[in-house]
Amino acid sequence: MGIAVAAIVVAAGRGERAGGDLPKQYRPLLGIPALTRALRLFHRHPEVDLVQPVIHADDTTRFEQAATGLDVLAPVWGGATRQESVRTGLEALAAIEPELVLVHDAARPFASDALVSRAIAALRLSDAAIPAVPILDTVKVVEGDRVTATLDRASLRAVQTPQAFRFRALLDAHRAASQANRVDFPDDAALAEWAGIDVILFAGEPSNLKLTTVDDFARAEITLLSGLSDIRTANGYDVHAFGPGDHVMLGGVRIPHARGLAGHSDADVLLHALTDAVLGALAEGDIGVHFPPNDPQWRGASSDRFLAFACERVGLRGGVVAHLDATLLCEEPRIGPYRDALRTRIAEIASLPVTRVAIKATTNEKLGFIGRGEGIAAFATATIRLPWSEP
Ligand code: CTP
Ligand code: MG
Repeated sequence: MGIAVAAIVVAAGRGERAGGDLPKQYRPLLGIPALTRALRLFHRHPEVDLVQPVIHADDTTRFEQAATGLDVLAPVWGGATRQESVRTGLEALAAIEPELVLVHDAARPFASDALVSRAIAALRLSDAAIPAVPILDTVKVVEGDRVTATLDRASLRAVQTPQAFRFRALLDAHRAASQANRVDFPDDAALAEWAGIDVILFAGEPSNLKLTTVDDFARAEITLLSGLSDIRTANGYDVHAFGPGDHVMLGGVRIPHARGLAGHSDADVLLHALTDAVLGALAEGDIGVHFPPNDPQWRGASSDRFLAFACERVGLRGGVVAHLDATLLCEEPRIGPYRDALRTRIAEIASLPVTRVAIKATTNEKLGFIGRGEGIAAFATATIRLPWSEP
């Protein structure tokens, strides 16, 4: 049996109305680019067999980052208009000839799994089906700043993507349109209508926002955050004794010192305490559960991966790390001069802005084992936000 359902995600636009240094589909929304969110939607959907991204030739490196770990087809390069970008996606799939195709804008990262299922189901009734929502505002026809007519809202709909088509019908319609030099249809449904295909509606989603302007990004982040209302805080603690060596690793930074730290992996007490804090906020055990100290593969290992792993677990649970805070306890080395280097490196490892990482240090006033200079301890606190639906 051939491929049943393919999805094309168009991401070749330049996002001019959204401004900024990065095309909007690559800009992070709570740390995850819109394009990644859109690709994941189809990648994880049980009824979608293939995902064909369409990107701009200048974005190949950005795309590789955005699609890391996602099993999607190699991207193809889009054209000067959205319509031409969709056509390159369709042509790339022509040899495979899936039965159905969904066409989706990378600029709509919030479409739900249920919407994708509805799109596919609607094709039982027609060759073309699109998601629509009622228009709540009254809509006027204008000339300059004068109103010339008021439209009947009951007969108007705002339409979204993913739009769904029998693959062959849409490919033929696109080929006919470009032969006729029609290259600027605003959506695939408009092109299908032009080609005489019957287009039916299914229920869209008000939450399926399209990112167009800078304001849309601010609104989208607020919406995402309001869904992450399960705020959890947890601590972590670690200590390592000094041993032979000429440096210590703290927060992933190599700090020259007359002694080293002894222990599991690179003995980075700061990263270990932070990792335990994040795992604590997830209530997913501690560092030793995930990286057993007796497992030879972690001997001398860089501890970066432990913290990165814990933060990725937060992402996999649909959440974000909101803040990381830690205090180092040692008589030596002096931490102050390295504070910003530690914050920068930890922020990199955790994929956070540096403003969400705090590092403090104190001596132990010569008291106890820390005071005698026998080792370094670290306390950490992690704050994470998870979806409220979490058990
Ligand atoms: N798109 C595309 N190829 C183009 C133009 C647009 O693949 N030549 C994609 C965009 O990347 C986006 C979707 O079509 O995912 C909808 O287009 P739009 O929101 O207009 O995005 P941009 O064209 O990038 O934005 P702008 O019009 O503000 O420049
Ligand atoms: Mg555009």
